[in-house]
Amino acid sequence: MKKQILVTGGAGYIGSHTVVELVAQGYEVVIVDNLSNSERSALDGISKICGFYPPFEEIDLTDYQATEHLFQKYNFVAIIHFAAYKAVGESVQKPLAYYRNNLVSLINLLELMNKYGVDNMVFSSSCTVYGQPEKLPVSESAPIQKAMSPYGNTKQISEEIIQDAIVAMPQLKAIALRYFNPIGAHESALIGELPRGVPNNLVPFITQTAIGVREYLRVFGSDYNTPDGTCIRDYIHVVDLAKAHIIAMKRLLENKNKSSFEFFNLGTGKGATVLEVIKSFEKVSGQKLNYKLVERRPGDIEKIWADTTLANQELGWKAEKTLDDAMLSAWRWEQHYRSTLQKKQ
Ligand code: UFG
Repeated sequence: MKKQILVTGGAGYIGSHTVVELVAQGYEVVIVDNLSNSERSALDGISKICGFYPPFEEIDLTDYQATEHLFQKYNFVAIIHFAAYKAVGESVQKPLAYYRNNLVSLINLLELMNKYGVDNMVFSSSCTVYGQPEKLPVSESAPIQKAMSPYGNTKQISEEIIQDAIVAMPQLKAIALRYFNPIGAHESALIGELPRGVPNNLVPFITQTAIGVREYLRVFGSDYNTPDGTCIRDYIHVVDLAKAHIIAMKRLLENKNKSSFEFFNLGTGKGATVLEVIKSFEKVSGQKLNYKLVERRPGDIEKIWADTTLANQELGWKAEKTLDDAMLSAWRWEQHYRSTLQKKQ
């Protein structure tokens, strides 16, 4: 029987981009998604890029029996686990839903990996585990700080759960990839970020404003201790990010990992302010963006960017695309997506 890669949350933003990279590199992929925060249309985009529909299972991973059925049906060799709730603000309103969804799904997967002899997991983590680091750029050895939100806490606790599971399941190997700020879309503009409702994140808000869905962008805070007063983040193109998952997975499959649980930062190593992101958008789109400087957003950290030395050296991976590349791809995706919506009406 052929061996498959399970991509949980494979219809989501980073998941869908990872699926197409896996397929491009000849892997057999099974997508699992409960479509709670993604659209079925993402699967159409994937199929247009890949030339076929990878197997898709609409399953909620908190459902142990349904998830076990999946392990019986396929022969997984590795799992790339994206499926999780991810909205910081919402997690403050619905902490228990976040803990249940993000933690129970992980526990189910780990138990079933143990039962069915699946030894490799790439886990979707976040730079949120560092809080506001004292030293920048932040490296993997920086202290983990108390989470600023239930969402962030689920990422910290998930890393701990994997760590503890590995002690008891010596065959298990895992890599946690700590993302900085993923932005942009596939160059085909057939897949991209699909926020539900009003976007929380900067780049979808910018593209929706430019296309006329939002009136103006609010720039949260202009009195931070940064060159132009706005916050600094490390924005990484989602395709660069997706490629890192395949490298990490191969590292596990080929037993090249140096310990049973490794952690890597995935960023560009460079920070950009909110105003720099806006300038980049205006440059690549040729559009003037309507924005206003407003109050700080509670809970925002001032600045963070990644030390990517470990990922560069150990994974042999480096972000290749620029901020301009990412903004242009995000803009093309927004335009493509809106034109398909109009056609449907
Ligand atoms: N921003 C605005 N206006 C907006 C949206 C965002 O000015 O309408 C600013 C924010 O204040 C921040 C920057 O743009 O300075 C980036 O904000 P995002 O919401 O896009 O991203 P965050 O850095 O706040 O959040 C990201 C991930 C989270 C993760 C967090 C960890 O989206 O999943 O990093 O710090 F938890």
